[in-house]
Amino acid sequence: MMEAKSFQLFPDQASTFASNVDGLYAFLVLISAFFSLLIAFLVVYLAVKYRHRPENGPPVAHATNDHGPGSMILEIVWTVIPLGLSMIMFAWGVSIYFTESRPPADSMEIYVTGKQWMWKIQHMEGAREINELHIPIDRDVKLTMTSEDVIHDFYVPAFRTKSDVLPGKYTTEWFRATKLGAYHIFCAEYCGTKHSGMIGTVYVMTQSDYNAWLGAGSGEGSMAEQGESLFNQLGCGNCHPSVVNNQNGRCPNLVGLFGTRVQIKDGSNVRADESYIRESVLYPQSKIVAGYDDIMPTFKGLISEDGMLKLIEYIKSMGAKHGTMSTATPSAVETSATAQPSTHAQGKTAPRGVPGAPAAPQRTIQQPRVQ
Ligand code: CUA
Repeated sequence: MMEAKSFQLFPDQASTFASNVDGLYAFLVLISAFFSLLIAFLVVYLAVKYRHRPENGPPVAHATNDHGPGSMILEIVWTVIPLGLSMIMFAWGVSIYFTESRPPADSMEIYVTGKQWMWKIQHMEGAREINELHIPIDRDVKLTMTSEDVIHDFYVPAFRTKSDVLPGKYTTEWFRATKLGAYHIFCAEYCGTKHSGMIGTVYVMTQSDYNAWLGAGSGEGSMAEQGESLFNQLGCGNCHPSVVNNQNGRCPNLVGLFGTRVQIKDGSNVRADESYIRESVLYPQSKIVAGYDDIMPTFKGLISEDGMLKLIEYIKSMGAKHGTMSTATPSAVETSATAQPSTHAQGKTAPRGVPGAPAAPQRTIQQPRVQ
């Protein structure tokens, strides 16, 4: 297997972000160098030029109170030029930041769990790896990340992107690799004694190599399938209906939940995203869905972070409705889920054991996911 290069003054440009980030970096360095040299030169030059000479007699303090038009123009010039330059830096930086913080909707999803001191990676199809990340070239890849202990930071210099990995919540990071090869993963947040050893390698492969690599995977089933067995093992299904139109009145139906807005008892509403689901499993009393009682026990300590990601993936697979802004009370979720009978035709994408569930968007690697 190829290895990431050991030392480089400048890492490879291996993602779509790389040239733009390097451009901004070069701009910052050039501007800083230009003004540093200019100022240093003027300090020395003016000190020599206006040095005290014996023939001028003893030094005299001149009262300088010149507010004439000349100095006004000078003031404006040296205010407007730096302002313009810093605004260019600001706008350029912001555009990169926004691009990097908004994963494209059809990104391929991969889950990352950081812990002292390793990276655990789970692919939707079920493959798992430690300190290695295999991805196909020319595909948008979105990482959903969390930590089992302290704050880490997933950093791939060759992709020019990094993001903190926090305990108790999910952060994302995305990139599109443009160059085959092996690249470093570093933890970029001091996280204890072996922080410097919390490293790994990204392998950028052709799509067919990637498919072959996935095919040699774990045989444990997809993340959603593993999440479903966990769901049954923990007894979630005893209360939460995971079948369309089955409403027992005690617990919210989970079909079509992901991505909708949920009405909370206190009158607020919240988007059913990864963090909301995690909170609802571990701290069920913190946000009670309107119309339901506070009867769910906590599952804190009964489920690992990896398991939580599988559960989330299973709930997502019950029918995702990304980007909807409708306030979904439990009954509204029901309605919206049942209002798509046509999706039932794609029965193969419905999670096993949930015959009536609306089809989850297809998530095979051969074709981009449609949402
Ligand atoms: Cu993990 Cu530093």
